[in-house]
Amino acid sequence: MDQVGADYENIERVRAYDEQMSKVRDFNKEIEYIVNAIDLKKEHNILEFGSGTGNFTIAAARICKKVYAIDISSNMLTYLKNKAKQRNIKNIITIQSGFLNYQHKNELVDAIITNVALHHLPDFWKMVSLYRMNKMIKPGGKIFIGDVIFSFPVEEYKDKITNFINNIENSADPGFAEDAETHIREEFSSFDWVIEGMLKRTGFTIDKIDYRNDTFAIFICTKKQ
Ligand SMILES: C[S@@+](CC[C@H](N)C(=O)[O-])C[C@H]1O[C@@H](n2cnc3c(N)ncnc32)[C@H](O)[C@@H]1O
Repeated sequence: MDQVGADYENIERVRAYDEQMSKVRDFNKEIEYIVNAIDLKKEHNILEFGSGTGNFTIAAARICKKVYAIDISSNMLTYLKNKAKQRNIKNIITIQSGFLNYQHKNELVDAIITNVALHHLPDFWKMVSLYRMNKMIKPGGKIFIGDVIFSFPVEEYKDKITNFINNIENSADPGFAEDAETHIREEFSSFDWVIEGMLKRTGFTIDKIDYRNDTFAIFICTKKQ
């Protein structure tokens, strides 16, 4: 349950998250993209790991039947719950738990979403968590993974990592650039082919890999029947 890398239990960080992130991300576009990617329908029950401040969770809850929001940060979950309450949204179930210890005791879900969170686990544990997630999804259901994932040749790592940090520094505030450095130093982003191999070995068919650039990729997959 410990935070690895950036500390998302820190209340100041939680409060600043949406404003800081919106300098480098378009949340509305992301939500629209994910809703289409998983073909979200009103009868669906879905689960989000690492739900954070709840931008996707809350938008999805307006469309579908139920959203399970799982995060190890109690402050993130409280923030999400307050946001949902202000919007009179009542179909979100928040659970303080993680990729590796969450026990899903309810009906299998139609989709799992995890955006910019799986990199908190090293590769062995990523594989275990994908295996566990596969068991929580209905056959034919979807998994959506968006994350900092590397798709450059390893010999270019110095330039690519420098660019990654510089790009964030140029578009956000200095604290965020420090986060980018922490990400590289202490968190566990993988190469694309590693994630691809893990998904194939844990019972998923890869429908699409969307490379946003050589440091961010999206995997949209279906659980095998
Ligand atoms: C960078 S934030 C992403 C939040 C949100 N998904 C988004 O797209 O903005 C990462 C989130 O993952 C959570 N997290 C970190 N390690 C986790 C773990 N092992 N299991 C579940 N959530 C975790 C953090 O508490 C944080 O809320």
